[in-house]
Amino acid sequence: MGEAAMARTVLITGASTGIGAATARLLGPGNTVFVHYNRSERQAYEVTSDIEKAGGQAILVQADVGTEAGCTQIVSSVRQEVDSLDVLVNNAGGLIERGALADGLRWELLEAVFRINTFSAMFLTSHLVPLLRQGQDPCVVNISSIAQRHGNPSATPYGACKAALDSFTRGAAKELAPDIRVNAVAPGVIETPFHERYSTPERMKVFAENTPLKRNGQDHHIAMAVRFLVENDFITGETVDVNGGLFMR
Ligand SMILES: NC(=O)c1ccc[n+]([C@@H]2O[C@H](COP(=O)([O-])OP(=O)(O)OC[C@H]3O[C@@H](n4cnc5c(N)ncnc54)[C@H](OP(=O)(O)O)[C@@H]3O)[C@@H](O)[C@H]2O)c1
Repeated sequence: MGEAAMARTVLITGASTGIGAATARLLGPGNTVFVHYNRSERQAYEVTSDIEKAGGQAILVQADVGTEAGCTQIVSSVRQEVDSLDVLVNNAGGLIERGALADGLRWELLEAVFRINTFSAMFLTSHLVPLLRQGQDPCVVNISSIAQRHGNPSATPYGACKAALDSFTRGAAKELAPDIRVNAVAPGVIETPFHERYSTPERMKVFAENTPLKRNGQDHHIAMAVRFLVENDFITGETVDVNGGLFMR
């Protein structure tokens, strides 16, 4: 276990809303947090101001992680400010849109889903290795999804891109050991702006009914799992499922 009082430098992608914002607020006090966002500028600003009120330091970084230029921009913004990074949380992502395989998937959609959820995490992890190697007990936490576990009709490409991220987690954990730990959290159904976009209230009710704990999760449930993986220095290559029992191994 790392020292409780150790100040960390943390980069969280997609920290403007939902899971990323909750993780930034939880890890903020006493630490320096790069709060990355793309479009939700006001919400990202609120996250930085909450972190500063709670005794942390926050630095805003804007970029589209769906492009190489955007990811490169994140790496150079971090490099300009610090010489080392302790924690990278690859959280930015989304489902983009639901679609049935039988209706003919658009190539553009497939590319976009993998660029935002998978390529960005792989690229950022790789290009931030030099800074992470300078960090204290450095680690990467990837946010994958329950969608990779048991199939999710209408979100099959999304499930596949998160499965790729999970596989990347294990590969990177072995390749970067013993210097850098790499883990993942696979959220179940978490009530964030994600589902306001992609799921009807009726679908959310069905998710809750099908969950053994009879409710959907909240953003802090995932943030707490990220913190656990950051603090426990004997875990690497693991994916922690946080889903109220909706998927059990
Ligand atoms: N909610 C769930 O039930 C659930 C379940 C499993 C996995 N997840 C995963 O958890 C992660 C966070 O999702 P959430 O539920 O917290 O949803 P959310 O509130 O919609 O947050 C998504 C975050 O990703 C950022 N983002 C999206 N596209 C981006 C792009 N092209 N470039 C840069 N940033 C981008 C958004 O930034 P801006 O808003 O600033 O553009 C936002 O900060 C995602 O990877 C998602 O796939 C969520």
